[in-house]
Amino acid sequence: MKFFVDTAEVSEIRSLAEAGLVDGVTTNPSLIAKSGRRMAEVIAEICALTPGPVSAEVTATEYDSMLAEGRYLREIAPNVCVKVPLTEAGLRTCRALSADGTLVNVTLCFSPAQALLAAKSGATFISPFVGRLDDIAYDGMQLIADILKIYRNYPHIKTEVLVASIRHPVHLVEAAKLGAEVATLPPAVIRQLLKHPLTDSGLAAFLADWRKTGQSIL
Ligand code: E4P
Repeated sequence: MKFFVDTAEVSEIRSLAEAGLVDGVTTNPSLIAKSGRRMAEVIAEICALTPGPVSAEVTATEYDSMLAEGRYLREIAPNVCVKVPLTEAGLRTCRALSADGTLVNVTLCFSPAQALLAAKSGATFISPFVGRLDDIAYDGMQLIADILKIYRNYPHIKTEVLVASIRHPVHLVEAAKLGAEVATLPPAVIRQLLKHPLTDSGLAAFLADWRKTGQSIL
């Protein structure tokens, strides 16, 4: 399973990349706003940190301007993946950009039918939002299962399921059990994945015993 990091904070991406945990990055207008930086500048910096896809989202809502924004964003770096919303204009833009070989992530997916449309439009990635569905008492992980089942019925579909709006480690583990190709994770969730109390107590015991030997390795 590929791990994308869901943030526009360059320092977070850099340290996770150094641990080999970054296969790509997703941003959205809210994350860019939170970074307080110019979008083109921050996307260029992120693209230099990872060879994997870096999603940069358009903000226009009409086809012509959305396509122009997508064409601008893809010039920032070869690994930019243009992110478009799951609207008719978004799907038209997806179709036009992917026909040129541009990576496209179709975002804000909340139903299997929407995911099927994105695949037909040539999306590289479909981003179903599990956490936001859970928030309104729908089963977000069931959406992932449904999309994967549908896509697997049609082997010509190459669109990858990019599980988004992940809020905690159980989301990630369930998505991996279902075989989703990609998960995008906030840095805090990646750090939660590391944690286990038996790792902490086991390490403390090993180190205490080691100190008793009076040895040092170097
Ligand atoms: C994915 O690309 C989105 O940026 C993100 O996962 C949304 O997550 P949220 O619902 O926690 O805002």
